[in-house]
Amino acid sequence: EVQQASYKEQIKALLKRENAVLVAHYYTDPLIQQLAEETGGCVSDSLEMARFGRDHPASTLIVAGVKFMGETAKILSPEKRVLMPTLEATCSLDIGCPIEEFDAFCNQHSDRTVVVYANTSAAVKARADWVVTSSIALQVVEHLHAKGEKILWAPDKHLGSYVQRETGADVLLWDGSCIVHEEFKAKALEDIKKVYPEAGILVHPESPQSIVEMADYVGSTSQIINAAKTLPNKQFIVATDQGIFYKMQQAVPDKELIIAPTAGNGATCRSCGNCPWMAMNAVDNMTEVLESGSNEVFVDPGLAERAMKPLTRMLEFSA
Ligand code: 13P
Ligand code: SF4
Repeated sequence: EVQQASYKEQIKALLKRENAVLVAHYYTDPLIQQLAEETGGCVSDSLEMARFGRDHPASTLIVAGVKFMGETAKILSPEKRVLMPTLEATCSLDIGCPIEEFDAFCNQHSDRTVVVYANTSAAVKARADWVVTSSIALQVVEHLHAKGEKILWAPDKHLGSYVQRETGADVLLWDGSCIVHEEFKAKALEDIKKVYPEAGILVHPESPQSIVEMADYVGSTSQIINAAKTLPNKQFIVATDQGIFYKMQQAVPDKELIIAPTAGNGATCRSCGNCPWMAMNAVDNMTEVLESGSNEVFVDPGLAERAMKPLTRMLEFSA
């Protein structure tokens, strides 16, 4: 505890010294989220992280999250220095969508509008017409469908098929998935719902269809927290990364939050819903990065220029 307190004071002083601001995702260590709250940074979903980083006047952004979040920040603010506690934190969706194969796929289906999830590399974004996050995927595809456009969607097949079912659009899916959300199991969720029959079920749309179908609410991390506030239930079973419980519990101090189970696990599961890459962000590597200026994020300027267009479109659409 004493050590944690001194880490916090040190990071606060370093943020000032470096004219830096902390941009953190809900899945990171609660200590990092606390630091962001206490220093005028942001804790949010990937869409608002992108907007906050772009609009903040600090000259350095410390992005606590995974690689695509750091790259997005750099693309939207080429003049800022972007540092990350770790450059090793990636995402199974990003890994599962290499640019060469993706480019070939797009070329084979050139009649389709290319919509990619934010959880992708800068190169994949540069090849896209639209970038979306889970908070606006439905609205963007509805908008394109209304104009009669056919969609090529990548990389998350679960989010993509959810969007397809909800909008009725013609959506061709890339075969990618999130290793964390894919582990939630319908049978185990049914079992736990029997233990908590009054609980509302909140689901991130990276989860498989069988989980989404059991949901009382489906949405991005911010939207799920909001749903916990507005839905009347006193208990919620939550199918996303457990890191979200820090802010969610703040928002609903009197409600009980239960992690959705992966196969065979009960309500006490400690390992379910835990992104291994998000977990690589810690106060010690953050301190190190602030002290030394290491782990700077660079994006090829040509790619960045092209990726800026669909990213700006994303922020404008949701403004
Ligand atoms: P959100 O945009 O909902 O925060 O999702 C990002 C993510 O990586 C979820 O796994
Ligand atoms: Fe990627 Fe899944 Fe981790 Fe989110 S939780 S960063 S989608 S691997």
